[in-house]
Amino acid sequence: MSRDFIPDRFRDQVALGVGGAQGIGKAIAVRLGREGARVVIADIDRPMMARAAGELSDEGGRARQVLCDVRKPRQVNRMVEQAVRWHGRVDVLMYIAGVGKTAPFTRTDERHWDWTVDTNLKGAFLVARAVVPHMIKRRRGKLVFMASTNSWDAEAELAPYNASKAGVFLLAKTLARELGPYGINSNAVGPGLIRTRLTAPLLKDRKFMRKYQNLIPLGRVGEPEDIAGPATFLASPDADYVNGVLLFVDGGQLA
Ligand SMILES: NC(=O)c1ccc[n+]([C@@H]2O[C@H](COP(=O)([O-])OP(=O)(O)OC[C@H]3O[C@@H](n4cnc5c(N)ncnc54)[C@H](O)[C@@H]3O)[C@@H](O)[C@H]2O)c1
Repeated sequence: MSRDFIPDRFRDQVALGVGGAQGIGKAIAVRLGREGARVVIADIDRPMMARAAGELSDEGGRARQVLCDVRKPRQVNRMVEQAVRWHGRVDVLMYIAGVGKTAPFTRTDERHWDWTVDTNLKGAFLVARAVVPHMIKRRRGKLVFMASTNSWDAEAELAPYNASKAGVFLLAKTLARELGPYGINSNAVGPGLIRTRLTAPLLKDRKFMRKYQNLIPLGRVGEPEDIAGPATFLASPDADYVNGVLLFVDGGQLA
């Protein structure tokens, strides 16, 4: 799906897209690159990261890649140091990495809980903690975290995912309060149902889809590009006075 872009909106800006190898993260990374940002993609999936960087350069943008598991503090710190070594700073942090799978609550084991919460929430904390000191020094920066409609509206059989995404929103809000005085904005995006690898099993489930589509006033599932525009808006100068919000992008599902 093609979307207009705003040439040079992120010119001379350095954007770190964590979880940018595919799906929503890739759409955001490509959009930032098309609009002039120097993009660093960090992800655990090396082949998909290479493909995303290739796509970005086909579009005339530039992207560097760093392999990083966001659950590992040392890897996170090294990844941020590398981005700063390459480009001298980070103007925009997009924290997009996320995982989830359904399971009845009584069959949700600790491994499942830790995998989800460590990736979605602890990773957001670790990455922000590594990036923010660099932003404080320059007294500017934009933090954008990937939350979800599930930050607000619980879905059955997704306890760790729902809890982690609610946590991501409150982390974004906390940082909005704490870092606003340093000229740093912190916001979150809350996608509804978007067509990606994460949702592929649900999208194949006809019964689920019949029910779900009725819940979306716009009557369709979203595409990753539907999220790229709102997410990059929050990172742009147009959002200089937007701080501490969760911007739902869900076709009206929560209306
Ligand atoms: N697709 C949706 O309907 C939807 C809805 C609401 C929120 N979200 C959120 O949007 C974000 C992107 O999801 P998506 O649908 O594009 O999924 P996706 O699976 O296509 O992309 C997720 C990315 O995160 C990376 N990742 C996972 N674990 C990681 C780790 N430990 N370290 C580093 N990178 C890691 C993956 O390799 C992948 O590139 C997630 O946070 C997800 O929770 C998605």
